[in-house]
Amino acid sequence: MLLVHLTGLDEARWAEKFRAALPGYQVVTRADTFDPALVRYIFTWKPAPDAFDGLAGLEAVLSYGAGVDALLTHPNLPDVPIARFVDPDLTGRMSDHIVAQVTMHHRLHAFYAGQQARREWTDVYPRKASEIAVGVMGLGELGRDALARLGPLRFELRGWSRSPRQIAGVACFAGTDELDAFLSGTDILVCLLPLTDATRGILNRKTFAALRRDRLHGGPAVINAARGAHQVEADLLAALSDGTLGAASLDVFATEPLPADNPLWTLPNCFITPHIAAVSAPDVTVAHFAEIIRAHSGGAPLPHLVDRQQGY
Ligand code: NDP
Ligand code: OXD
Repeated sequence: MLLVHLTGLDEARWAEKFRAALPGYQVVTRADTFDPALVRYIFTWKPAPDAFDGLAGLEAVLSYGAGVDALLTHPNLPDVPIARFVDPDLTGRMSDHIVAQVTMHHRLHAFYAGQQARREWTDVYPRKASEIAVGVMGLGELGRDALARLGPLRFELRGWSRSPRQIAGVACFAGTDELDAFLSGTDILVCLLPLTDATRGILNRKTFAALRRDRLHGGPAVINAARGAHQVEADLLAALSDGTLGAASLDVFATEPLPADNPLWTLPNCFITPHIAAVSAPDVTVAHFAEIIRAHSGGAPLPHLVDRQQGY
C-alpha cells in the first residue's frame, strides 16, 4: 500500500495519479480509512507530526522534494531508507531558473532598473561573460547541471562541494578550508546546497564580503534557490543596502510565504520569486516514483538514497 501524505498540496489529486500509474496497487490518502500497518511506502512532503504513526510495515519514504531537510528533522522519522526526488525534469527547471538569474545579474539588470526608475541614461557597459565568474555552492544533481548549462554561455565556472570533485571546465573547491579561495574569485554566487547543520546560515556577511568586487558594476550578486535558512536575512539586507552586494535573487526564505512586512520586498536590487525555481511536476513525479515502487517491490534497490549521517 502507498500512502500519499503531502502538506499544502492536493493529496487526492496526487493519489488519483498514482492509482492510474499503478493499476491494482492500493493507494490511500489521510482522508481514507486504512490499516496503517499495511503501508509499505509513504510519498511525502513536509510530513505532519503524526505522519508516521502506526506505519509498522513501512519499507521506504519517498520524498516529493529533492531537499529532505524537513523530513530529516521530523521527530518520529522511522529508520527506513529515504529516496529523494532526482529527475531530469526537476533539474532542467532549476537550471532554467539559474541561467535566467545569472544572465540578469551579468547584464546589470538591477543597476539599469534603478536608472530607469530615475529616468537616467548612463552607459555602463557590462563586461563580457568570459570575464564574469559564476560560483556554484553545491555540486550535486542541481549544481552540476546548472554549471553545464552556464558553460556554453562562456562564463568562467567555479564550484564548491563538501568532498573534492572534478568537473571539466570548472575550477573546483572543497570543504571549509577552500571556501575563501572559492569566494574570492566569484562574482555571481549561486547556492544549491542542501540545508544541513553545516550549511545553515552560510550566506552571511562574511561570505558576501569575501566575494570578488571589481568585475560586476555595483558589486557581486547572490542567487539562493536552495533553502531560506541558508541566508542570514539581516546580513543580506545590510549587504544589499550598503553595497557589499550589488543584487540578489531569492527564491527561498526562512518563512514562506515571505511576510508582507519583510523589508526584503522593498529593496530594488533584490529579486524575489515564491519558491518556484523548480517544481516536482505531478505527471513526471508520479511516473518516477511509480516505477520505483514497481521495481523495489520486485527486489530492485532504491535509487537516490539519502545519507542520514551527512544530512542530505
Ligand atoms: P545533492 O544532494 O545532489 O547535492 C548536494 C551538494 O551539496 C553536493 O555537491 C554536496 O557535496 C554539497 N554539500 C553538502 N553539504 C556541504 C557542505 N557542508 N559544504 C560544501 N558542500 C556541501 O542535492 P541537489 O543538487 O539535488 O539539491 C540541492 C538542494 O536544492 C536541495 O537540498 C534543496 O534544498 C534545493 N532545491 C530547491 C528547489 C527550489 O525550488 N527552490 C527545488 C529543488 C531542490 P558532495 O558532492 O561532497 O556530496
Ligand atoms: C525541493 C523543493 O526540495 O521544491 O524539491 O524545494
